[in-house]
Amino acid sequence: MGKYIIEGGYSLSGEIKVQGSKNAVLPLLAATVLNEGKTYFHNCPKILDVYNMLNILTAIGCTIKWDKDVLIIDSSNITTHIIPEKYVQMMRSSIILLGSVLGRLKTVKISFPGGCSIGTRPIDLHLKALKQMNVDIKDRHGFIECSTNEIIGNKVSLDYPSVGATENIMLTAVLSEGITTINNAAKEPEIVELQEFLCKMGAKIEGAGTDTIIIKGVNKLNSVEYRIMPDRIVAGTYMCAVAAAGGEVLLKDVCKEHLNSTITKINEMGCFIKEFEDSILIKAPERLKSLDLIRTQPYPGFPTDMQAQLMSCLVTADGTSIIAETIFESRYKHVAELVRMGADIIIDGRIAVLKGVNRLNGAEVFAEDLRGGAALVLAGLGAEGKTIVNNASHILRGYENLEKDLSLLGANIKYSSD
Ligand code: EPZ
Repeated sequence: MGKYIIEGGYSLSGEIKVQGSKNAVLPLLAATVLNEGKTYFHNCPKILDVYNMLNILTAIGCTIKWDKDVLIIDSSNITTHIIPEKYVQMMRSSIILLGSVLGRLKTVKISFPGGCSIGTRPIDLHLKALKQMNVDIKDRHGFIECSTNEIIGNKVSLDYPSVGATENIMLTAVLSEGITTINNAAKEPEIVELQEFLCKMGAKIEGAGTDTIIIKGVNKLNSVEYRIMPDRIVAGTYMCAVAAAGGEVLLKDVCKEHLNSTITKINEMGCFIKEFEDSILIKAPERLKSLDLIRTQPYPGFPTDMQAQLMSCLVTADGTSIIAETIFESRYKHVAELVRMGADIIIDGRIAVLKGVNRLNGAEVFAEDLRGGAALVLAGLGAEGKTIVNNASHILRGYENLEKDLSLLGANIKYSSD
């Protein structure tokens, strides 16, 4: 599963470009199935989750090609409506193929995506909405089988602004009969990106970024060329790396509007931040300040995908900080590992109380999920001595060049595939 070996105590300086967005590209890759032509992607991150999604697209009949950094997907010939189980088990977000394959073929069979280390992650909201769009759903033997002779647009109200459910409804409704309205929709930038991509292919959608999205069904979508937006969580992770290790760094190719809540918290910790057109300069203070309360929330609130990285900074801040993880029920797997490094953290259900210590000690730790793993690497940058972060494959799922980028900035970090 690979590991990162980090010698702590090196501050960061210089500039790096932020990769394309994982959580934007995955639904866009799923959406290519709706297009009977070709899709050309620029700025597509080369990460394990993308390769896994490309394996699924190949397995259902798409042709995949890289022309230097341009990813070309030909989805003119889809050969099956059955999504291979082995890939679904490797990546929860393959569930978004439910909407696109159903939209294209009017039938789909996919295995129930198991939970993952951060929570049970049910898909009840996805299925409830599809049933309201004239889709017959059978779940048996661990599989979901959906079929319809016609997807019919409808008014759908989500009990919770789920990102995945909003994306699946949009993908199902694009080639449907009539109009679909999603109330209490997710407002994440990745939803806006999906609307923009689908509309560039000829879809009729408006309202993404607000809590009401309206989709007018169309008959056909066209080939398209598209540049993937920058990854706001990777940008936030790098900002926390500077806060944890010290130093001054310019992050290039970021969309600062997507980072407002993250920038606010990092600024409150005492980091100096200067925003430019599409880049951000961050400079760390001598010692970070603690934060009274950080509550993770749906966008535009503070993202749950930044909770672990911010925690890895606050464990050495001056004072006590409190984090409330409101989105996922078991997203504190990194805590025991940070405590192994000398952090002082108490967990009570969804609440974490962090008493800042002067400095962490390097240690051998184990990543249990993507963002928790990245947080352990950040903790190692500021720690005394050597840190070994095992199970690095969790991190490679979403970070294209973590080791290379941090080395470029002066960190002492190596990746070993052993
Ligand atoms: C997306 O997951 C992201 N993944 C997650 O990022 C992110 O943490 C999450 O949104 C929240 O921002 C991708 O975009 C690929 P949700 P998703 O549906 O769509 C509950 C990362 O680190 N829920 O908004 O699965 C659910 O259990 C990943 O990059 C239901 O109860 O998130 C959770 O508690 C991790 N029933 C909450 O809603 C449903 O039918 C949010 O889930 C659907 C969701």
